[in-house]
Amino acid sequence: MRPRIICHMVASVDGKLHPSRFTVPAAGVDAGRLRKHYDEVSAKFGAQGWMCGRVTMQEISKGKARTVKGPGISSREPFVGDRGDRDLAVAIDPHGKVRYGKDHLLGDHAVAVLSEGVPDAYLAELREDGVSYVFAGPDGRDLAKAMDALGDTFGVETLLLEGGAAINGAFLKAGLLDEISVLIHPAVDGLAGVQTIFEYAGEADERPGAGQALRHVHTETLDGGMVWLRYQVEKAPA
Ligand SMILES: NC(=O)c1ccc[n+]([C@@H]2O[C@H](COP(=O)([O-])OP(=O)(O)OC[C@H]3O[C@@H](n4cnc5c(N)ncnc54)[C@H](OP(=O)(O)O)[C@@H]3O)[C@@H](O)[C@H]2O)c1
Repeated sequence: MRPRIICHMVASVDGKLHPSRFTVPAAGVDAGRLRKHYDEVSAKFGAQGWMCGRVTMQEISKGKARTVKGPGISSREPFVGDRGDRDLAVAIDPHGKVRYGKDHLLGDHAVAVLSEGVPDAYLAELREDGVSYVFAGPDGRDLAKAMDALGDTFGVETLLLEGGAAINGAFLKAGLLDEISVLIHPAVDGLAGVQTIFEYAGEADERPGAGQALRHVHTETLDGGMVWLRYQVEKAPA
């Protein structure tokens, strides 16, 4: 069964994505305290894992490419490594570009969501690393299928979607978000063209959120003036 998906992000007041570009905290506001809110709030959701797009996951994994000896893996059945009781760290990586060299990311068990077209040798590398994997159709972009596969294979009930902009936009367009949780950092970016927290790459007249509506469920002001907003994503009224 498909897990509940909560998109959980930090944004500036102008909705931008890159904290390194934000204005500094006001005098007397502790930057370290502000940074801790994201993980503290994440823990409140009771999720069994978190997911990121390929670009973000490459920044986190920092793994190096290598060549695995042997014939490769021709099967396109899911593979489950030794998860233990760890949460999942899921990379949405259609082309198999993320390199791991270990079976975990930030302490959680690594899972790759791939296209069926990835090279057999790449699957052998993931197995050697102990990284689990599932498939998201021939081109790796069937996110609904991928979420069903994660639910069925790992029994997860709730997953956090933690960016970046492109994968958040793709989940919005696919109608797969159950909730949007945003921590508004008391800061502004201000530069035109900098990524916001949702960036679906579509045509000018497309509306990725069409047919959906947001219902406000919670607002909380956290230490230092960060504001936590939660919205349930519903089918738009007729
Ligand atoms: N403020 C925050 O809280 C926060 C959180 C996370 C990340 N970030 C930042 O966000 C930046 C990265 O964001 P990004 O938008 O460039 O990249 P991203 O969302 O991390 O990854 C985008 C990639 O995901 C894959 N993808 C996109 N749509 C897909 C679909 N429909 N199905 C399957 N795969 C799909 C594509 O991989 P391929 O190109 O391989 O096809 C695409 O290039 C980083 O700089 C990171 O530091 C900020």
